[in-house]
Amino acid sequence: MAKKLRVGVIGSGAIFSGAHWPGWQALKDVEIVALADIKEANLKKAAELCGVAAENCFTDYKTMLKKCELDIVDVCTPNCFHCGPTVDSFKAGCHVIVEKPCGTSVKEVEKMIAAGKEADKLFMVAQSLRFTDAHLAMKRWVDAGLLGDIYYGRLSLLRPRGVPAWGDFIVKDMSAGGPCYDLAVHVLDLALYLMGHPEPVAVSANYWLKLSNKPSIMKHDPKRYTVPDELAAGFVRFDNGASLILETSWAVNAPEGTYNVFLAGDKGGMQNNPLTLVREEAGLLTNTSVQVNPDQGIASHSEEIRLFVEAVRKGLPSPVPGEQALLTQRILDGIYKSAERGKEVKV
Ligand SMILES: NC(=O)c1ccc[n+]([C@@H]2O[C@H](COP(=O)([O-])OP(=O)(O)OC[C@H]3O[C@@H](n4cnc5c(N)ncnc54)[C@H](O)[C@@H]3O)[C@@H](O)[C@H]2O)c1
Repeated sequence: MAKKLRVGVIGSGAIFSGAHWPGWQALKDVEIVALADIKEANLKKAAELCGVAAENCFTDYKTMLKKCELDIVDVCTPNCFHCGPTVDSFKAGCHVIVEKPCGTSVKEVEKMIAAGKEADKLFMVAQSLRFTDAHLAMKRWVDAGLLGDIYYGRLSLLRPRGVPAWGDFIVKDMSAGGPCYDLAVHVLDLALYLMGHPEPVAVSANYWLKLSNKPSIMKHDPKRYTVPDELAAGFVRFDNGASLILETSWAVNAPEGTYNVFLAGDKGGMQNNPLTLVREEAGLLTNTSVQVNPDQGIASHSEEIRLFVEAVRKGLPSPVPGEQALLTQRILDGIYKSAERGKEVKV
């Protein structure tokens, strides 16, 4: 067997322990050899989980990069701390997989891409939703030409009551934004991927913060809630004439939660939930439903890690390159700018 790839982790909290670790653990040709986290308790917990020796656990990730001769770094820090660790890991000669959202501004994402290019290392953004069975099926329909030219989409990821009571998602200096960064980034990435990454040109959006400081809705000290949004809605135009409607929330007085990606092309349409292909057959508009494994949370993370390692080993293109995350980031920046200025903005 080829020499095991040495993996270091920066940010050993919930997503690493719960979702990335099973992916790394399943691979025979990699080994997590070092961990870095500013919180000693999280470091200790993760070290026990992964069997990493205390001398390879660091509260300063730069020391880990200097000492541990790593091949790969897995960046799982809060959103505002993706860019620095990613750039420094590239400078240390490592391939990098970083959690979503890639960064918190166009400038940051550009910096991360440039650092990867400069180091000539692989850069993947962990957009795990691309790798669920339902979304892989949607990609197969697109690749088989069943949608034709996709020109319209509606993305809805609403939680009526779902302000995160864990982590630092509600803190602006840690997460940059609310449900747009936490949730919308997933469905936006997925839609752009399925649409073939058209060039976004303009965004018109609004966001609201009306409910999240009610004790019945938010389990945190309300003073911690410093992100500007709990509900956001927007309209995105692309240079090929396509458009997307988007809505996302952590709190809204809606009758139910939604998790819908609907895309329409000139040959057919599709939606993810329930997974349905829509086509005219024998002159009749026909819905074809397909059964897939509905619960793919952890499995999709494992698949993303498997594909990343395969790309590193075989010199393949990144399964989710930074350049694709940059398009999503331009839209996210556009959503906040448009909402703040009260008009459509170019992105
Ligand atoms: N793909 C998904 O479905 C999904 C789900 C949840 C979270 N995430 C993403 O994963 C990231 C982390 O989220 P989480 O839920 O694991 O949060 P978390 O708070 O549980 O874990 C983050 C860890 O990073 C550590 N940390 C913070 N700053 C650091 C620094 N400078 N150096 C080293 N360690 C540092 C914290 O101490 C903490 O242990 C976020 O970007 C989030 O958007 C993705």
